[in-house]
Amino acid sequence: MTPYADDLAPDRERNVRRAVCPGSFDPVTNGHIDIISRASQLFDEVVVAVGINKSKSRARLFTAEERMAMLEKVCADFPNVTVAGFEGLLTTFCEEHGIPAIVKGLRAVSDFDYELQMAQMNSSLVGVETVFIPTSPEYSFLASSLVKEVATFGGDVSGLLPPDVLTRLTERLAERAREDDD
Ligand code: PNS
Repeated sequence: MTPYADDLAPDRERNVRRAVCPGSFDPVTNGHIDIISRASQLFDEVVVAVGINKSKSRARLFTAEERMAMLEKVCADFPNVTVAGFEGLLTTFCEEHGIPAIVKGLRAVSDFDYELQMAQMNSSLVGVETVFIPTSPEYSFLASSLVKEVATFGGDVSGLLPPDVLTRLTERLAERAREDDD
């Protein structure tokens, strides 16, 4: 069962090394799983936190609940990984849940500028550290937005997503195409 945000109590007494992997995950890709899996080796507990930004919900292909359900399925292989949703500032989520570290994947130098800015802002707000993990080279070009675009125009993205996510993506794009025809 998913430990939703309210159940993720801080646990400083046990000195648990806890980190958050935040993102939109619209939908989760093999690149995300690479970073989550490697974060799960570095930390005792990893919370994959799905950003719920209501002003962007129309732009999303999947609802927050759908994105979390897909993540829960793919993260079931990692016993120390849980999935939660968060609204508002990531730093508030970190404070509320006793999380001192944010894990981010870096695909290329082009990611670095903005990620550094966010890391410094988050650190200045509550002192949370950001740990950057270099994306494995085979996923360095991978982004959910590109996967959606390629799949929309019939490109083969089967090697870039878990099979269940590929199925959900194919179904959702077909639904959207039918809606556009109506
Ligand atoms: O997968 P994405 O879209 O790159 O994820 C971006 C996300 C959700 C990690 C980022 O937008 C975020 O942290 N949003 C929460 C709002 C927030 O804290 N903004 C200030 C960042 S310094």
